[in-house]
Amino acid sequence: MTMKCILVEGPRRMRIEARAIPVPGAGEVRVRVRFAGICGSDLHIYHGDHPYVRFPRVIGHEFAGVIDATGPGIAESRIGERVAVSPVISCGDCASCRAGRPNVCLNLKVVGVHVEGGFAEYCCVRADLAHPVPDGVDDRAAATVEPFSIAANMLSRTGVLAQDAALVYGAGPIGMTVVQAFKGVHRVAPLVVADRLEERLARARESGADLTVNVAQEALPEVLAREGIAPSLIIDAACHPAILKEALEIAAPAGRIGLMGFNAAPSAVSQQVMNRKELTLCASRLNNRKFPEVIGWMADGRIDPARFISHTFPFTQVQDAFDLLESAPVSCSKILLDFTAA
Ligand code: NAI
Ligand code: MN
Repeated sequence: MTMKCILVEGPRRMRIEARAIPVPGAGEVRVRVRFAGICGSDLHIYHGDHPYVRFPRVIGHEFAGVIDATGPGIAESRIGERVAVSPVISCGDCASCRAGRPNVCLNLKVVGVHVEGGFAEYCCVRADLAHPVPDGVDDRAAATVEPFSIAANMLSRTGVLAQDAALVYGAGPIGMTVVQAFKGVHRVAPLVVADRLEERLARARESGADLTVNVAQEALPEVLAREGIAPSLIIDAACHPAILKEALEIAAPAGRIGLMGFNAAPSAVSQQVMNRKELTLCASRLNNRKFPEVIGWMADGRIDPARFISHTFPFTQVQDAFDLLESAPVSCSKILLDFTAA
């Protein structure tokens, strides 16, 4: 029996490959994938500028489906369970894991980066990574648990206080998951969103942003001063190295700043401003066991995955989907690949 999967063989070389359907090993389940999301990092892999990937690789780390087989040691009663898969593979044994921080495991592997991923009709994963999804959360929504888990992790790192005035830099897909979590889960007000693209700011307003600032047209510090807003919680989901300096300047005393960028370029900042206001900087990577929490948000209707999904392509048209994301990113939020066709 064979299946189809999406293989990136090298930079800008992607194709559909037929492979034997994988057999779940000890402690694993096999997921019949239904939907998978395309992430900015998948585009980086495709472009050949992802630091950790080795080619050839079946990519895909945002996916959901149904368990159709179990390996030795895993109860067959899990067959038929609808699941969302967390891509974070930790060893459970290193200092980070023992400190309760498995997402920065010393032996960390990421599904779809270090091991074969979910852009495939079938994918075998460690059973504990496959999180059950209740009936009220549909298959498309389930495929977006991973990007929302990025927001959940970031906000658990900074904490959210009832009196916070929040600012999000960047209204791309990741910024929008943060906006939904801020509004739907934490009911933060005011919530300011800054971007340089009007179309994306409009989407941020639709998702509840109280004020949006087009930083290509207006200086953010001036707008905040005019509106009398001193942000106490700032999330940088734009991740340009220059942003941190401004964030430190506009943050309220005792403010927290959440950072998610991977850029290797340094940010030139002064310790004085951090010290004077006793600011807290928090980095966030992937997610630390946030899937149950995010699935709960979806089940309770506190976030709206449908609003986050902009396109769905049959997986056989993955090249068209990547071309769209590359050529017209502004028109895209989350693009899903549909693996449900026979
Ligand atoms: P994206 O590129 O679609 O969105 C970034 C947005 O920031 C764009 O809309 C852009 O116009 C805006 N922007 C650029 N410069 C700006 C500025 N100076 N001020 C305000 N807005 C500005 O990217 P996406 O997919 O939303 O991801 C955002 C970042 O999050 C990426 O850098 C990505 O690497 C990072 N990321 C981090 C993760 C983590 O676990 N820490 C996980 C996933 C993504
Ligand atoms: Mn992702």
